[in-house]
Amino acid sequence: MAQANPWSAYIDRIREAHTPEALDTLEHELFGRKEGAMTLAMKALKDLDAEGKKQQAQELNTWKKQLTETIAEQRTALLHPSDDALASSDAMDITLSLPPRERGSLHLIPSFMEHAADVFGRMGFDVATGPEVESEEMNFDMLNIPPDHPARDAQDTFWVQGKDKRVLRTHTSPVQIRYMREHKPPLRMICMGKVYRKDADATHSPVFHQLEGLMIGKDVSLANMKAVMVNAVRELLGRDVEYRFRTGYFPFVEPGLEMDIRWQGDEQTREGNWLEVVGCGMVHPNVLKNCGIDVEESNGVMPRQLKPTWQGFAFGFGIDRLVMIKHQIPSIKMLFEGDMRFLRQF
Ligand code: DAH
Repeated sequence: MAQANPWSAYIDRIREAHTPEALDTLEHELFGRKEGAMTLAMKALKDLDAEGKKQQAQELNTWKKQLTETIAEQRTALLHPSDDALASSDAMDITLSLPPRERGSLHLIPSFMEHAADVFGRMGFDVATGPEVESEEMNFDMLNIPPDHPARDAQDTFWVQGKDKRVLRTHTSPVQIRYMREHKPPLRMICMGKVYRKDADATHSPVFHQLEGLMIGKDVSLANMKAVMVNAVRELLGRDVEYRFRTGYFPFVEPGLEMDIRWQGDEQTREGNWLEVVGCGMVHPNVLKNCGIDVEESNGVMPRQLKPTWQGFAFGFGIDRLVMIKHQIPSIKMLFEGDMRFLRQF
């Protein structure tokens, strides 16, 4: 019986090599300088007679070429396996289904903020930002809040230790100042972010979120402000709601208003009630002056009393409260606790 050709057996083994290392070993077995099977076979040619040598050498060379090519092909296949090779390989079962992966989603607050940027963007408002650690000057003085105002009391405010008096901003209103110092009127901006106060109950949290807004122009009126407030609330909540405006006092506006919305009630009372969602008003001239905006500027034509001057309105929404009303959430704490059973509902 003819012996199986050793070279064709090598071809089979090369095709079955599944790792580059196995391939290296085979290559060495064949072509190793001292012991390689092919090397030895070539060396043995010298013992043959001329005729045998010629015939054998031809045959060996054909095998050598074929073996070398097969090794190269297999090496490429191992480096860049085809889809078919992957599918039929034991190493990877592509039919295996992985455990279901939970997809995350934005938390209610940032998702509300994205929506708000859109709503106000359509009304021409730019989005600004400011620092959460604020100077006393920006947080209070520049906003016309006098040194003896109760808002500055340690009861209400988190003061930051250090030589310069700094606070965790108690509201986003200082961003009004920063913005007006960098932008000339006419202007429209909103700013959204975290604010901090020593408060805690069903509708108050020591950290909460505000949406500040500011619009300055030469003919911007209180009526414009109410229109913006009413339209914004309708769009932000996605439905019509019952609302009312009351007068309110904030040192940085004159006159000042508060807007309340009727909702289903908080955790404790569960009574349909009014909840304040925004403070607003016409920006106090002192605030404009603090930002270098000339409130006396005349257009040179009209008499002093009639001339249009830079004026406008500002507002500060409680974002968490709007979210509570929108989704009927009875306690502000639920927005911060991170309870997945609650969060997965949205
Ligand atoms: N900063 C006020 C607060 O935190 C809210 C506010 C009221 C902002 C009136 C305003 C405004 O811009 O005009 O209570």
